[in-house]
Amino acid sequence: MKVQVCIIGGGPSGLLLSQLLHLQGIDTVVLEKQSRDYVLGRIRAGVIEQGFARLMHEAGCGERMDREGEIHEGFHIAHGGILDRVDLSKYSGGNSVLVYGQTEVTRDLYDARDRMKGAVVHQAEDVALFDLTSDAPYVTYRDGGRTVRVDCDYVVGADGFHGVSRGSIPKGALREYEKVFPFGWLGVLSRTKPVSPELIYTRHARGFALCSLRSQVLSRYYIQVPLTDKVEDWSDDAFWAELKHRLPAEASDRLLTGPSIEKSIAPLRSYVVEPMRHGNLFLVGDAAHIFPPTGARGLNTAASDVHYLYHAMVAHYRKGDGSGLDCYSQKALTRVWKAQRFSWWMTTLLHRFSEDTPYDDKLKETELAYLFSSEAALRVLAENYVGLPY
Ligand code: APR
Ligand code: PHB
Repeated sequence: MKVQVCIIGGGPSGLLLSQLLHLQGIDTVVLEKQSRDYVLGRIRAGVIEQGFARLMHEAGCGERMDREGEIHEGFHIAHGGILDRVDLSKYSGGNSVLVYGQTEVTRDLYDARDRMKGAVVHQAEDVALFDLTSDAPYVTYRDGGRTVRVDCDYVVGADGFHGVSRGSIPKGALREYEKVFPFGWLGVLSRTKPVSPELIYTRHARGFALCSLRSQVLSRYYIQVPLTDKVEDWSDDAFWAELKHRLPAEASDRLLTGPSIEKSIAPLRSYVVEPMRHGNLFLVGDAAHIFPPTGARGLNTAASDVHYLYHAMVAHYRKGDGSGLDCYSQKALTRVWKAQRFSWWMTTLLHRFSEDTPYDDKLKETELAYLFSSEAALRVLAENYVGLPY
C-alpha cells in the first residue's frame, strides 16, 4: 500500500486528522489496533472547547454535536461548604464550552470516515515503524496471517500513551517530563438527572469530587480515591454516600442516585515528551502528552496538535512550504505546556494530597477566596478553561 500519510491510532486525534487531510485531497490510512466496538466502548471526558468544535465542523462532523451537545457558559467550584460560579462567558469575552462526550465525537468521526470511504484498518496487529529519518519511511502490520507494508511520506503517531510510535524513537532523541499523582478518580455513569445543569468541581477535606453530565438524563460523577482502591471496593451505595458527603448541602440535598451503568478508576498523570517530531514521524495527542482530567485538557489539546499538523501538511502538499512542519513540535508544545500549567494548577488546588499540611490547606482556601474576589483571577481561569487560542 502507498499513501501520503500513514496514521497510527484510530482515536479522536488520528480520525480527525485523516478526515481533515482527506477533505484537502491528501491521501491517508488509519491503522487501529482494536475493533471499532472496543474503541467506541471507552468512556472518556466530555467538555469540548469551541476551537475543537470549529475543527469538527471543518471536518464535516459537527452536525450531531450541534444538535445534541450542550453549550455551557459557566461552571461551579464548591469549597468550604459553599458553591461559587465561574461565569465563563462573562470572563472570556463571550466564549463557552460544549458538553458532548468524547465517545460521541469518536463515533461522529468514524461515521464521517465511512461516508468518505476513508481507509481505516481495524485490528491492525504488530504495527511497526521503519526508516523514520529517511525520505521513504514505511509501516508494517499484520492482518491475520499476512504482513502488509505501507509506504508513505509521513507517519503520524496518534496511538495514545501506550502506543508503538513514541517507543519507535531512540530514547536519546527524546526528553520526557512526568508527574504521577498519588490518587485516582473513581467515576460513575448513571441514568439520572444531573444534580446541576452545570458542572460542579468540589474541594473537600475528604478529597475532590466532580459532578458532570452527558445530557440532562445521563450523569457522570467522580470522587478522588487512593490508588490502592479497587472498583470492587466501592458499591454504588458507598459511592453515593461519599459523593454526598463531599458536596455542599445545596447540591447533596438535590442529588438523585441510581444504579451505576459504568464504574471505573482512572489514575491521574501528567506527561509530556519533547520534541513531538522525529524525522518524518509526528506525534499527536496522547502519544505525546497526558493530562490529569481536572479541567478537561486532554482531548482539547489533542485537537490543537491536529490543527497545527493539518495546516502544516496542507501548506507542504499544496504550496511546497515546509515551514509549518519544521515548527510543528515547537508550536504544539508551547500550547501543550500552557495547558499542563492549567491542569496542574486546577488539580493541585482542588485535590487533597496526603502530605498537605494545615499551611497548604490555608493557602488553597485563600487561593479560592482570592479567585472569587478578583475579576482578574476569574479571567485567567476562564480563558484557560475555554481554551487558549490557536
Ligand atoms: N497500533 C495501532 N493502534 C494503536 C496502537 C498500536 N500499537 N496502540 C494504541 N493504538 C490505538 C488505541 O487503541 C486507540 O484507539 O490508538 C488509539 C489512541 O487513541 P486515544 O488513546 O484516544 O488517543 P488520542 O486519539 O490522542 O485522543 C486524545 O483521548 O485518550 C483520550 O484523554 C485523551 O482526551 C484525550 C484524547
Ligand atoms: C467528564 O464529564 O467526564 C469530565 C468533565 C470535566 C472534567 C473531567 C471530566 O474536567
